[in-house]
Amino acid sequence: MAKVISIIGAGVVGQAVGRMLRERGYEIRGVVSRSIERAEKAAVFIGAGEPGVDPAKGASGADWVFITTPDKAIRETCERIARGKGFGKGSLAIHMSGALGSNVLEPAREAGAQALSIHPIQSLASSEQAVKNLPGSYFSIEGDAGAIPDGKEIVEALGGLLVMIPGEKKALYHAGAAVASNYLVAVLDFAVMIYEALGMKREEAVKAVMPLIRGTVNNVERVGVPDALTGPIARGDVETVSGHIEALTKYLPEMLPLYKALGRHTVSVGLRKGSLKEEDADMLLKILD
Ligand SMILES: NC(=O)c1ccc[n+]([C@@H]2O[C@H](COP(=O)([O-])OP(=O)(O)OC[C@H]3O[C@@H](n4cnc5c(N)ncnc54)[C@H](OP(=O)(O)O)[C@@H]3O)[C@@H](O)[C@H]2O)c1
Repeated sequence: MAKVISIIGAGVVGQAVGRMLRERGYEIRGVVSRSIERAEKAAVFIGAGEPGVDPAKGASGADWVFITTPDKAIRETCERIARGKGFGKGSLAIHMSGALGSNVLEPAREAGAQALSIHPIQSLASSEQAVKNLPGSYFSIEGDAGAIPDGKEIVEALGGLLVMIPGEKKALYHAGAAVASNYLVAVLDFAVMIYEALGMKREEAVKAVMPLIRGTVNNVERVGVPDALTGPIARGDVETVSGHIEALTKYLPEMLPLYKALGRHTVSVGLRKGSLKEEDADMLLKILD
């Protein structure tokens, strides 16, 4: 029989998951927010569910209780559900945070439920966009061994692909996602600062680097990492890198430490690609030190 689901914290992710699971034939029970108006709107988006403001009441009778509040409210919300006897025997508490482990759902375990964290490696700005982008995304699962089959069923129902991670490495896993997404933005901000130092406007600079970014991302998709690396470090062009250092020293000296740190890692990528020779790598590392 299809599982009964409650969504506690019906924001971007909660609404998208609720709607997608309803469309796959799952029954939606409670849809909970701190305001009844927002819970009602969320139930309309999901297309089913009883809107409410009480997490324990909303969770009651559900097999799968999704706690999709912001991260800082997950533990407290789980405690409220447990205190209000919202977890039934054999029910499963799920949160979808990338940073937190399933251990924040300990109150659910103490109440006899099982616990999982299921995290989509995606950046989701709205529920509409999430409904489109979740299928085909990778999801990590971590938590109680007995609940893993349910976790796999959820990921499959959302059209996702699965990665299993050990609970004690959740922070390390999240660091990977932060580097891939947030640090990418920070590195691009660095590139834009350089173009601003040339006198370009920020919006113009972002537009100017977009084709380059797209081309690079396409290469990564096509040939992977480290093979997608191109440019002076991949070729062992010491003079060009030395020119960059001179120019940055003159025009943007505060960014030199970051340029050099990224450069040193790029040398290791070039070596692994096999396009950078050891002797050129040694020279590059000297000027990047
Ligand atoms: N968005 C992303 O890109 C993304 C990606 C992967 C994973 N996640 C994870 O998904 C989870 C939800 O994130 P989100 O982006 O969907 O956040 P969100 O849009 O801010 O939604 C959270 C919802 O929780 C409700 N809420 C807040 N405090 C609550 C409480 N104490 N009790 C009940 N409801 C409460 C809020 O509604 P009210 O203000 O009406 O209460 C809000 O609608 C987080 O764990 C996040 O880390 C997000």
